[in-house]
Parts: sequence; C-alpha cells; structure tokens
Amino acid sequence: MDLNLLHTKLSEAGQSHLLQFWDELNEEEREELLQDLQEMNFQELNSFFQRAMQVPSHCASQEKVDSRMEPVPREVLGSVSRDRSKVQEWEKEGLFQIAQNKVAVLLLAGGQGTRLGVFYPKGMYNISLPSQKTLFHIQAERILKLEQLARQRHGVKCTIPWYIMTSGRTMEATQEFFTKHNYFGLRKENVVFFQQGMLPAMTFEGRIILEAKSHVSMAPDGNGGLYRALGTQGILQDMERRGVMYIHVYCVDNILVKVADPAFIGFCLKMGADCGAKVVEKTNPTEPVGVVCKVDGTYQVVEYSEITLATAEKRSSDGRLMFNAGNIANHFFTLSFLQDVVNVHEPELQHHVARKKIPYLDTQGRLIKPDKPNGIKMEKFVFDIFQFANKFGVYEVLREDEFSPLKNADSQDAKDTPTTARHALMSLHHRWVLNAGGHFIDENGTRIPAIPSFINGDTDAIIPDINQNLKDLTDLPIKCEISPLVSYAGEGLEELVQNRDFRPPLIIDETGVHELVKNGI
Ligand code: UD1
Repeated sequence: MDLNLLHTKLSEAGQSHLLQFWDELNEEEREELLQDLQEMNFQELNSFFQRAMQVPSHCASQEKVDSRMEPVPREVLGSVSRDRSKVQEWEKEGLFQIAQNKVAVLLLAGGQGTRLGVFYPKGMYNISLPSQKTLFHIQAERILKLEQLARQRHGVKCTIPWYIMTSGRTMEATQEFFTKHNYFGLRKENVVFFQQGMLPAMTFEGRIILEAKSHVSMAPDGNGGLYRALGTQGILQDMERRGVMYIHVYCVDNILVKVADPAFIGFCLKMGADCGAKVVEKTNPTEPVGVVCKVDGTYQVVEYSEITLATAEKRSSDGRLMFNAGNIANHFFTLSFLQDVVNVHEPELQHHVARKKIPYLDTQGRLIKPDKPNGIKMEKFVFDIFQFANKFGVYEVLREDEFSPLKNADSQDAKDTPTTARHALMSLHHRWVLNAGGHFIDENGTRIPAIPSFINGDTDAIIPDINQNLKDLTDLPIKCEISPLVSYAGEGLEELVQNRDFRPPLIIDETGVHELVKNGI
C-alpha cells in the first residue's frame, strides 16, 4: 500500500500514532510494520471497539444477566445417566452417520496456552502418560478408532475429516508437528488446517497499541473467531464438497474428549437439534466453567467470569446447583445451521471485552509493562451462536468419563493440571479394565479392591474427585493406559482382560497387553 494512502486511512480512523516511529525504522522494520497495518480495516476495528464497549460496566452487566437467567428445561436435556436406556440407540444413530461420511470434527486450537505457561500449541503438550502421547496424538487415534468401529458395524470404509483451527500464533508449529508425526496415521488430505483472525489490542480510548516500534500488539479474536474463518477460509465449502452434514466442535485441552462422540451426535439428531452442547454437572459454585442456560428465553453460556457468586451458589429443591449445566466446550452443529450463522448472523455477534495488562510503548518508544489493566482485547466466543438455534439440545455426560481439562501448570493446589489430566485418563482406563472383567493385584499378588463401575450402572458411587482430593491421591490412580487404537470408550476389552489379574503399570496398545513390571520394562 502507498504510504500516503496509509497515512490518510490512519488519520481518518484516529490511529496516526501507529506511524510515529516510522523515521527511526530500517527498511526491514518498515516492511514488518506495513505488513501488520495493511491487513487491518481501521474503520471496522473502530466499530468493533465501539460496539464492544457499549456493554454496560462489568458489575452492572453481571447483575443484569443474573436476573435474566433460567436453568435448562428438562425437555431439551438428554443425560447418559438418567436416560441410560436410550444411549445405545443414540450411539447407533451417530455411528451410522459416521459410516455415511456425514460427520466431521472441528478442533479449536488457536488459543495461546498462557495459563499453562507454554510457548507452543497446547495440543503438543505431553502430560507424561506411559505412552508419552500428546493431546493431538490421542485425539487423532480416537478418530482412527471411530472410523474403524463405523466400518466394522456398517461394512463401509468411511472418513471423519478433522478441521483444525489455528491462529497466527499456533499455525506453523501445529502444522510442523503433524508433519513430523506423519499425521498420526491419518491421511493428510483429511486433516484441514485453517487460521482464525487476529485483532489488535486497544487502549480504553480505542487507540491501537504498539508493542514495538514496528509491531502492533495482536491476539487471536477468540474461539468465536471460528465463524468468520469458516467463511473466509473456504471451510464450509470444503465440508459441503465432502458431503459433511454434522460437525462436532471441541476444545483442545480436554484429555478425555470423545471426538465425534456418536452418542452425542445421535442424541442431537434424534431430537432434531441444529445446535447442541455437551455439559457435565457443575457441583462447585466457583468451578471455572461456563453454564449453559437461558437468558431472556434464548440459549446461551454465561461464562464463569460473568456470573455472580450469589447466582452460582443458588440451589434447586433437590440440593443441586440451580445452574449446573457446566459447559465443557463440546458443541454439535448441523452444516446448514453453520451456513446460516456464517452468511447471516456472524456480523451481528458482538465482541466480549477482556481488560488486560498490555505491554506498550510510551511516547519515547520505551516498552512499559503495566501493573494494572491498561487496555482491552476483543474476543468472540464459540457459543455466542446458540441464540440462533431453531432447536437446541443439551447432553449431560459424566465428568469422570469425559471431562478433565488441561489449563494450568502443575503446582501445589493447582487445578486442571497435567497431573490431574493424567490421573483422570488412567482412572478411566482402570475402570474400563474392571468393567471388562479384569482385576488388578498389588506387589504381593493380592487383588486391589475394585472401584465401582460408572459405565454399567451405579452413578452415585463415590469416586475421588481428582481435583479436590489430589493430596489424598498419592497411590491413585492405578497406572493403566489403553491406546485409543484399541478402545474408543471401553468397548472391545473383554477378550483382552476378562478374568485376568494384572500388576500395574498396565499398558494395552495395538501390539498387545503389557505389564511393565512383570516384563521388567
Ligand atoms: C472454555 C469455555 C468455557 C468452558 C471451558 C471448559 C469458551 C469461550 N469458554 O473456557 O465456557 O467452561 O472452556 O474447559 O469457549 N481458542 C481458540 N482461539 C482463541 C481462543 C481460544 O481457538 O482465540 C481455543 C483454545 O485453543 C481452546 C478453547 O478455545 O481449545 C478454549 O479456550 P480457553 O481460553 O482455554 O477457554 P476457557 O476460558 O478455559
């Protein structure tokens, strides 16, 4: 772009300060800055800012939302524990659609993993399982296994395409990782990477922030940036071309995620939903999960940062939290719903404002790291589109089977860490072995008392809450890891483990059943 034209554009938008250090830059730096600025539509950015800041002040909006919230009504709710008799039917339906090549999965992986404290994409994180598999690796193998299960059930070869949304911060590293690992056994053409947008950080007055003389402070535009990217990156057309009709969207950080979960898909289809959310029962009022609920009669997620403690603590007559549909960031959409969202509603979605401490340059060009919030980042959220659903479905699953997110680094008292994620996976696999008729023994050969089955029945049984009782878990869980290539959700293990005693660590993978101690590994 011509420099004069850029000057004019910036001055019209009140952003001329972005070129204030121009004379001090060398050729290369000037190129870098021009690259940052050329891609920006300043008038649009100003309008995003104005609309986002129109929302009343934080406190006032909190109380306002609280008073308009209603819990999810029973008629849109399906539950693996309360509707146990229907789960098989839902699963059958989902697997049938998978076999017809109508199901795709879409991973939201554009986040920066700031809380976990790593500088690479979270999906590359190795939580120190015996297999050393990363989150991406586990998810890829679950896809492979489901394709195999659908093929076995319906006698046809099928594909579950995997769409992976990255951002300017994660794209290169993610693609390199997949290439290095040979796409974890998936076919390259069925793994589609695309990139979400980035937005500049702004001061409270709407001035774009420079983080260096030749660089604007940029961040991904939130996981709801998905909808704009689906349009601009040609992803909806790709889905249409492949005949995909149903999409499971999920977040990268949940070690237990059931990608393309046939039961969830079947549930949504049987109830005719075009949009659905998977939830777990929220039992602790301060747990950092959003809650699915109705606000002014339409479905929405109220984020943990937006709900007051008083409302979060409200209980129903049965003693459970009134707003207990904890969002685990697993969503179902039909393609036609997404087309509608992208083509019609996306521009209506307003950005959420996060007030942050954003490093900036002072007028002398010195980098200042503020100790209190000095500006905002603007983000859309993936669930902002629930309001446009014609029919919405909520599917409640068991936390211990399906939700253990990796958010924070390990430290005393930290929740949702590599340790809690690892324990949650091994504890689930331990239960799979027990449910399939296997047993564990200690070093003296004595059988370790079994913990109750969650899959086949007693959901009220007591299992240690991985987060809350971490300190008591020195001996737990039993080290047991089952490759997703062997079992997607606990199925097919009987022939491997029934009536056998195992001394942990136990590893079951595609090469067989391995007791590491016995084998001296
Ligand atoms: C998210 C949910 C929250 C839910 C919780 C469960 C949203 C907005 N919030 O919260 O309701 O209870 O998970 O664990 O979904 N991401 C992008 N691009 C971005 C930002 C994030 O792709 O610009 C991806 C991340 O890579 C991650 C996911 O979105 O896979 C969730 O992001 P994160 O910031 O971890 O969300 P939470 O605040 O934990």
